[in-house]
Amino acid sequence: MKWTVDRVCKSKGNKKISSVTAYDYTSARWVDAAGIELIIVGDSLGMTMLGYDSTIPVTLDDMIHHAKAVMRGVKSALVVADMPFLSYQAGLDEAVLNAGRLLKESGVDAVKIEGGTFRVETVRHLIANGIPVMGHIGLTPQSVRAFGGYKVQGKTEAAASQLLEDAKALAEAGIFALVLEGMPSALAGEITQAIDIPTIGIGAGPDCDGQVLVMHDLLGLYTDFTPKFVKRYAELGEAMKAAFETYRSEVEQGQFPAPEHCYK
Ligand code: KIV
Repeated sequence: MKWTVDRVCKSKGNKKISSVTAYDYTSARWVDAAGIELIIVGDSLGMTMLGYDSTIPVTLDDMIHHAKAVMRGVKSALVVADMPFLSYQAGLDEAVLNAGRLLKESGVDAVKIEGGTFRVETVRHLIANGIPVMGHIGLTPQSVRAFGGYKVQGKTEAAASQLLEDAKALAEAGIFALVLEGMPSALAGEITQAIDIPTIGIGAGPDCDGQVLVMHDLLGLYTDFTPKFVKRYAELGEAMKAAFETYRSEVEQGQFPAPEHCYK
């Protein structure tokens, strides 16, 4: 059965949601086949797929291109795509036009935007125009320059209560789920208790309603930087390197192709 925005939202308290990012057809098929409920086409593709050092340079066209490929591989997961930097910040109409394009051209189920209380008007405007929205607060990567690096957020009492207020305001504005990134576990637990929509944590401890990891971190494919919160479930980067080395050596020694790989 297809995971819908409504089904994910109603899973709060009944089932922990697992989420992974995906950016292309083949990997999206494997994620979907594994029964992962929520796929996020994250603007982290700026780093994992395009080799930038942040999400800032990612464009709306980049997001549409990758989201379309993901959609071709998915049967049952809910697919949410990130609105990239400067595609929703400059004005309400621009936000609707860009989010509408992302939804319409790629076929994803919902969009995700970063920001707290100051983003409530945008959230309301998108939802009023039929676009489901997922929120994202805490260490929001599009603000990395303002934060002065990838730093855990909500560590002071004032910052923690601001994040709690942000979560409540966004939930009240109608988002169906909220990503909590890079914050103390106790704060994420408090936010999760305080709102009636699911929280999906990344670097936010075990008390969220679900967890998300960047696929390339989870599989050991992206090794430029590994945050503390990442658990690697495979070392596919090393496995790929070993396979390429074996292939190269077999070609060099004339062992590949063997008779079974040749046409008579
Ligand atoms: O871009 C990204 O990968 C994200 C994750 C938190 C899902 O926003």
